[in-house]
Amino acid sequence: MIIKTSSENLTEIKTDAIILYHFQGHKKLEDNASAVDNAMERAISGLMKSGEITGKYNERTVLHSLGRLPAGRVIILGLGKKKELTAEKLRGAMAETCRRLRDRAVKTIVCSTGKRGIAGIDTAAAAQAITEGTILGLYTFRRYQTDKKEPSKFIDGIVITGNPAGASDREKGAATGSITAEASNWARDLVNEPGNHMTPARMAEAAKELSSRCHLDIQVLEREEMASLGMGALLGVAQGSLQPPKLIILNYKGRDSDKIDVALVGKGITFDSGGISLKPSEKMSDMKGDMAGGAAVMAAIGAISQLNVNINVAALVPATENMPGGGALKPGDILTAMNGKTIEVLNTDAEGRLILADALCYAARIKPGAIVDVATLTGACHVALGDFCSGAFSNDGRLSAMMSDAGEETGEHMWRMPMFNEYRDLLKSENADIKNIGNRWGGAITAAKFLESFVGETHWIHLDIAGTSDTEKERGYLVKGATGVPVRTLIKFLQSISR
Ligand code: BES
Ligand code: ZN
Ligand code: ZN
Repeated sequence: MIIKTSSENLTEIKTDAIILYHFQGHKKLEDNASAVDNAMERAISGLMKSGEITGKYNERTVLHSLGRLPAGRVIILGLGKKKELTAEKLRGAMAETCRRLRDRAVKTIVCSTGKRGIAGIDTAAAAQAITEGTILGLYTFRRYQTDKKEPSKFIDGIVITGNPAGASDREKGAATGSITAEASNWARDLVNEPGNHMTPARMAEAAKELSSRCHLDIQVLEREEMASLGMGALLGVAQGSLQPPKLIILNYKGRDSDKIDVALVGKGITFDSGGISLKPSEKMSDMKGDMAGGAAVMAAIGAISQLNVNINVAALVPATENMPGGGALKPGDILTAMNGKTIEVLNTDAEGRLILADALCYAARIKPGAIVDVATLTGACHVALGDFCSGAFSNDGRLSAMMSDAGEETGEHMWRMPMFNEYRDLLKSENADIKNIGNRWGGAITAAKFLESFVGETHWIHLDIAGTSDTEKERGYLVKGATGVPVRTLIKFLQSISR
């Protein structure tokens, strides 16, 4: 998707469609849009007077210019009450509008950041939100639909114009938005890939491509190296699969110091059958997305490098399948993690925490300023918080506040969950140091308490994205399938840490 910025007048740009923003209860169009209305022989203000155009959020009115403007169409997009406009609402409205225009075979679109931004959103932030909304909203995944690979309808490009004085802000905002949204879409691609294609080896290849494109250091540890590091928990999960496991390690150095400021850790189960504690077959196919945390941390470190953020970051992705092969883990087996702790595996479907245990030990050993892990960890988190919010679990109130704040800016909600030690007691094992499941209740919390016991004293936050990593319904800039959550939030979070 090509996003260009410009300072041309809307009345002079040749394009298939111009999008004009309009607010509920306002009698006039915004800023420079009145010139368009004049060229259209005041058709727009006429419809506003007659009550057809109200400015209600997501209301769209399409007028054909029939030669009155170089642009073929004018779309008046309602953004609701001016005081209530947020970047998130702008992203959503742009996404839906661009999809509808694509349905009408529109190829080029122009919109504007106005005189000084849109409502309370300044020029740079508006350009970023418009860019993100369009890139995320127009995302499609049709690699395996051989008849639709070359879609007949697609948007060629978007031009964001506006006040010449805001040209450099507009350019910066659009450039940032392209990086963050393309990073989300990159993660979505990995998550939408089926399990037979997105194997641990293919994930490592994707990491290599990313590392050369974004100038990151990369290391991929093989089974033997994991064994010599003592990663018995990760290897335990991998032993039921024919696919060799990989531990992907990416490094970004954005400032002159050997200190790693943040270590990102992402769950990379490329398919979760449950193992010997086999999952029911209904919806088991969704478990091809059980590497969404891994994809997200890789996408985020790539974007941080493209944005030249002044911070040192490492990203670790333990990648393996969880399969019930002949060598598979059995309920009752006891594994030894990298830090020497023994784990009694009472349910082989609680595998995410096992592979994360070793990755977290590894991360803690490099003594980062903080660890952030991201995982499609528990169905319980989905039950607790629903589709619209990820769970945040932390031993540090400041980190957790920074992450929630970042999430409010990106629209990827995060809600802090409790970490009381009573839940830790549920993981006491009769045969080992810890067991990998608690009881029926509070499953997202017991999972987090399990992870906590592998980070030592390190400042740490765990994001459970089991409910948010994919969606069954199109919504705003989300399309059916992988959402890319929480790539943009991780980027925002790392940017705010760097300040
Ligand atoms: N990958 C699943 C969690 C999951 C479920 C993610 C649904 C996305 C959608 C995880 O490995 C798992 O199976 N967790 C178990 C834990 C239980 C056995 C303690 C669960 O949530 O049922
Ligand atoms: Zn599982
Ligand atoms: Zn899993």
